[in-house]
Amino acid sequence: MEKLETSNLKLGIISGGQLGKMLIQEASKWDIITYVMDNAEDCPARSVASHYQKGSNVDFDSVYEFGKMVDVLTFEIENVNVEALKKLKSEGVNILPDPGILELIQDKGLQKQFYESNGIPNSPFKLYDSEKAIVEDIEKGVLQYPLVQKLRKGGYDGRGVAVLTGPGDLGKLLPGASVVEEKIEIEKEISVIVARNKKGEIENYPAVEMLFDPTANLVDKLICPSSLTAEQSEKAIRFAGKIIELLDMEGLLAVEFFVDSKGEVIVNEMAPRPHNSGHHTIESVLTSQYEQHLRAILNLPLGSTKIKLPSVMVNILGAEGYEGPVVYEGLSESLAIEGVKIHLYGKKATRPYRKMGHVTVLSSSLESALEKAEKVKQLIKVKSWKKS
Ligand SMILES: Nc1ncnc2c1ncn2[C@@H]1O[C@H](COP(=O)(O)OP(=O)(O)O)[C@@H](O)[C@H]1O
Ligand SMILES: [Mg+2]
Repeated sequence: MEKLETSNLKLGIISGGQLGKMLIQEASKWDIITYVMDNAEDCPARSVASHYQKGSNVDFDSVYEFGKMVDVLTFEIENVNVEALKKLKSEGVNILPDPGILELIQDKGLQKQFYESNGIPNSPFKLYDSEKAIVEDIEKGVLQYPLVQKLRKGGYDGRGVAVLTGPGDLGKLLPGASVVEEKIEIEKEISVIVARNKKGEIENYPAVEMLFDPTANLVDKLICPSSLTAEQSEKAIRFAGKIIELLDMEGLLAVEFFVDSKGEVIVNEMAPRPHNSGHHTIESVLTSQYEQHLRAILNLPLGSTKIKLPSVMVNILGAEGYEGPVVYEGLSESLAIEGVKIHLYGKKATRPYRKMGHVTVLSSSLESALEKAEKVKQLIKVKSWKKS
């Protein structure tokens, strides 16, 4: 990493959302020159990046030209033009994680086939090209309610997922190629973030437990350490390690799991990048997920993932009823509480349930962190002088 040692390393990040912003904040500690590409000129990462390039992550030419500007290219979202990445790779650009891994993960159908062919527990599934074929299989009794339908491509934050509990829900079916899977009786949703470098070193973060907001279907609170049994947590960590090794991946991989009503640990999906479920690591773990991603893609020794203090993370979401220029309420009251760390992403406009920031609450016990996090949730409101 000669270029790192001479403060001459150009790191490109495709898309400039909050994950890109926090990655750049870590990169700047090592004096890395950061390039970010995003179509939105007011994207969160622009304020911290060394260079901003306007361009679309799904557009071949934008991605190709951006890749030519940097020494190492990475991404903070899955929705990237893979053809452009492959061409860049064939021309010697260092892209991490590898475009082939991104291509697999972009498609939930390929992901499911990967789990199945490698003996990794996941919910039973079938692939479909159209809604019509799903309805036919329901009528034939091949599929039985309750079912979960997921678009193979493009879904995020619960968009692109439909839960069907009976014939009355048929109207919820989403158009396009999809995976239909058995609905799991979910006891807990957890995530394990794991990192691997070129040398093959692997480090995992402790499992974290997600609590979802039932209306928005977004992560509401994230708890670390989780309430898993030692056996469950070992299993999840083992599967995450097995997956990153099978993928021969360099970088950070977040693996989402369900724990079902029988206590079984089942893989849901994965993301080859820093993840919403790892925000707490900035303050509560010795090495943040962003620093770990840099260590992994630059083939540096991976950092320790020891927990410093128990933590609870809450997303700061746009309040219902407001859409437009942002006004934050309750920041000062929240900052008066010990252990409250506020992150505002810098999105200029709010809308209901938009992820505008997050708060990590650190405390000597998880119980007290939870109490404080609930207080913060009540205090911080993202409004606008414009009503929607
Ligand atoms: N097979 C399933 N059974 C029950 N609930 C599911 C299943 N698959 C997904 N879900 C629920 O839907 C949420 C979103 O699904 P996910 O595949 O993680 O999509 P996204 O890419 O939007 O995160 C999950 O976090 C979980 O709450
Ligand atoms: Mg998910």
